[in-house]
Amino acid sequence: MLLSSLNIGDFRNFSQTQLEFDDKCNIFYGENGSGKTTILEAIYYLILGRSFRSHILRRIIKYDSNSFSLFGKIRQDNRTIPVGITKSTEASKHIKIAGKEVSSNIEITKLAPLQLLNHNSYFLLYEGPKIRRQFIDWGLFHVEQSFLDLWRKVERILGQRNIALRKKSPADHIRAWDKELARLGLELHNYRNQYINNLLPIAKTILQTLLGNFSINISYLPGWDVSTNLELFLTNNLKTDLQFGYTTAGPHRADLKILINNVPAKDTLSRGQQKLLLYGLQVAQGELLNQLTGKRCIYLVDDLLAELDMQKCCLLAKVLLDLEETQIFVTGLNPGDLETVFGNHSNSKKTLHVNNGTIEN
Ligand SMILES: Nc1ncnc2c1ncn2[C@@H]1O[C@H](COP(=O)(O)OP(=O)(O)OP(=O)(O)O)[C@@H](O)[C@H]1O
Ligand SMILES: [Mg+2]
Repeated sequence: MLLSSLNIGDFRNFSQTQLEFDDKCNIFYGENGSGKTTILEAIYYLILGRSFRSHILRRIIKYDSNSFSLFGKIRQDNRTIPVGITKSTEASKHIKIAGKEVSSNIEITKLAPLQLLNHNSYFLLYEGPKIRRQFIDWGLFHVEQSFLDLWRKVERILGQRNIALRKKSPADHIRAWDKELARLGLELHNYRNQYINNLLPIAKTILQTLLGNFSINISYLPGWDVSTNLELFLTNNLKTDLQFGYTTAGPHRADLKILINNVPAKDTLSRGQQKLLLYGLQVAQGELLNQLTGKRCIYLVDDLLAELDMQKCCLLAKVLLDLEETQIFVTGLNPGDLETVFGNHSNSKKTLHVNNGTIEN
């Protein structure tokens, strides 16, 4: 699946802009503040129904307008599927897919798996475990039909159990949730564990190309002592949970440990090396998605050249372009550097100059 066109209306500094995309490689260059990241943000918003920069709608709608609109065409096999979203300050929201109004972006998200490679990628190393669970869950969402439903059920039961813990309800009221939580939680754990096992060999190959011969170790931490039956574990842990007022251990506390030469990656790799590690992991996710489902994801890469030397930029560009039938959108300041990095690797590409909220071919 790929995005063949995008119409942007009153989104940040763009008034009305029609963009036609290359199937493989789309490069946007221009001065600071010209609107390069905004184009990636618009694609992201169309597909996921939210921004990666702000949760506040007013910040995203063009200053002199009250609503924005984004319309795109997604191509899947031989089908073209029109998708669109409009949002206004009066809180009205319309999302359409193939001419049909829908209540959320979820079907568009399923249709076009998307990976954003930007400074937010560093969150995987620097933020808490939730981000790392989301990293795993991205893959499961796109691979396992039933995953979203399972995840929502676990969250709902956990929420109920935590309310009971906070209220210091009698033990049997709290434990009433444990059987179902253990059953579904274990299912969630097995999915995640399997996903990481599948991802690791692919990631290692890609990371060897990008980083060289570091010893990379990524392990999945289940969130509780898996040698104990989960229901029994929850029972045994009840006293601690009552003290804290929430469920302190279980699959909802799962995490990933990323070690380089046995040291946490963020303590040992340089900033540029971290970028290569993180982007490499995201590329591996796309590769695994393809192996398991035949689907391809779209890559949005903001400021690809920042923090990387030219040789590493070329390596990263090659890794991205080697992904067959994968569409990438890249931004950068300097067209000459982008040409050096992408020119040798891609026959098919489109380079667009972004100038103060307009596009010049
Ligand atoms: N709601 C808005 N309405 C109009 N303009 C906006 C709005 N929000 C931001 N802007 C402006 O739109 C532009 C968006 O810039 P964007 O971040 O896309 O630039 P960029 O080309 O990625 O720059 P850089 O190279 O610095 O990353 C900026 O000039 C910003 O000031
Ligand atoms: Mg930018």
